[in-house]
Amino acid sequence: MEALKSIPRAEEFFGIIEDRLKPKTLHHVLGVTELMLRVAPDLGISLEDAAAAGLLHDLCKPLKRAEMIAAAEDYRLPISETQREKPALLHGPVAAEEAKRELNVESDAVYEAIYWHTTGKPGLGLLGQALYFADFSEPNRTYSGSAEARALLKAEGFTKALLYAADSKLEVVQSKAAVDPMTEAFNDWLHERYE
Ligand SMILES: [Fe+2]
Ligand SMILES: [Fe+2]
Repeated sequence: MEALKSIPRAEEFFGIIEDRLKPKTLHHVLGVTELMLRVAPDLGISLEDAAAAGLLHDLCKPLKRAEMIAAAEDYRLPISETQREKPALLHGPVAAEEAKRELNVESDAVYEAIYWHTTGKPGLGLLGQALYFADFSEPNRTYSGSAEARALLKAEGFTKALLYAADSKLEVVQSKAAVDPMTEAFNDWLHERYE
């Protein structure tokens, strides 16, 4: 991606994920990163943080169940009962730790954004909100709400688009399985804050 050339460390991170991720995930991650770079200036987010969060958020997606639990334990992350049953839920927290400890990404905002990108959480900062939005809305996503979320971004700006994306994501999650209470809490918090 041409835009990455001028952003500190972005090409290095791209090299790492290019080796590690399946093509489909790599496309998704590049779609997320592009959308992050698009919304960053309006939100006052640095391009460096936007690129790091976008590029690294699914860094640990390829880990197998046992590897994910082992990595989470190594990093001394709290592991809930639900996460033990479904270790894939830990791919955000584990990636946040790897980015910090092994790639020396020092930004707390990047850590928080990657850690919480799957569920969000009440009080999540702007970078995390941008990642939550972009993870759902990037153009390679086939959710019915993704295209509408991008259209809203253009027509009405980030906040409206984020609320729409969060509502749509909640619907998608509800249709699949038990919803992580954090996803609901984040959605409630967003509506209280921005409506
Ligand atoms: Fe993810
Ligand atoms: Fe993702």
